Amino acid sequence: MVRLVYDGDPGIDDALAIIFAAKCDVLDLEAVTTVAGNVSLEKATKNALRVLGLVGRLDVPVAAGMPHPLVRELVTAEHVHGEDGLGETFLPLPPVQDKCMGAIDLIVGKLLRRPGEVTLVACGPLTNLAEAYVRMPDMGEKVGEVIVMGGAVNVPGNVTPYAEFNVHTDPEAAKIIFESDLPVTLVPLDVTLKTLITSKDIEEIRGADTPVTDFIYRALRYSLNFPGHRRLGGCPIHDVLAVGVAVDRGFVKTKKLYVNVVTDNLVTLGKTLVSENNTGEFEECKTKINVCLDVNAGKFIRFFIETVTSK
Ligand code: RIB
Ligand code: CA
Repeated sequence: MVRLVYDGDPGIDDALAIIFAAKCDVLDLEAVTTVAGNVSLEKATKNALRVLGLVGRLDVPVAAGMPHPLVRELVTAEHVHGEDGLGETFLPLPPVQDKCMGAIDLIVGKLLRRPGEVTLVACGPLTNLAEAYVRMPDMGEKVGEVIVMGGAVNVPGNVTPYAEFNVHTDPEAAKIIFESDLPVTLVPLDVTLKTLITSKDIEEIRGADTPVTDFIYRALRYSLNFPGHRRLGGCPIHDVLAVGVAVDRGFVKTKKLYVNVVTDNLVTLGKTLVSENNTGEFEECKTKINVCLDVNAGKFIRFFIETVTSK
């Protein structure tokens, strides 16, 4: 059983990732922490509650984290995720949970209580993770694994030609994480843009005819209409693949590389750089990280559909 803490900015693909994590038999979704990114922190936190309410998992604590990037202004992405952040599905908001601690306290507390046992899956800007690392410099010895959805290695970015959204939103936070000694597995656009849900897939999901699959259908139907996704021929389920790596790393092929981030050039801001050697822009990097460079997309999409349509 993989003990998992999901950190994200729900957002449509975050919502699918949370549902997937909640329904996966081999995962124990211990908590959801939220960060400003796709939408405001308040909206992301309410959306996490909406989705957990939908899957009957309000036992999972939701803790709000950072309301803005470390040093930059927040630029959200409602144009991709809809005004409500969940593809204009307007899920009902369950009763707010008892006052839960903040995200940073929750993450640090979990790692202190269960050293080496917790997998953090970070699928939004890395602001919460960077704050937690600053608070807990020995996090590298306390965390089991850190799986990060973000970056673009050999493919163009999705915010600028160079940068992927999560890294571009808070490049300083990403730099802290990639230069750290944390055991990171990076799930970049190189693999998530190959992991596309098509209109045929969402009709299959709809056929299961449950409240969960109805939400997934409506959210993905909205997302499939986003011009960038229409051009791709499907909707990339970025964050779902990051959770999938926690289930079975056999879905991906990885390579150990030093990774760093451009933070001092307005044109290439947020670009993820990789290298076999820690020289030049990589000399501050303490360790190589696992970078996913290929994926068995067909196998993973099938697994995702089987999981979310199971009763
Ligand atoms: O670039 C894709 C990533 O940015 C996904 O995590 C999406 O939810 C947004 O946060
Ligand atoms: Ca996300």
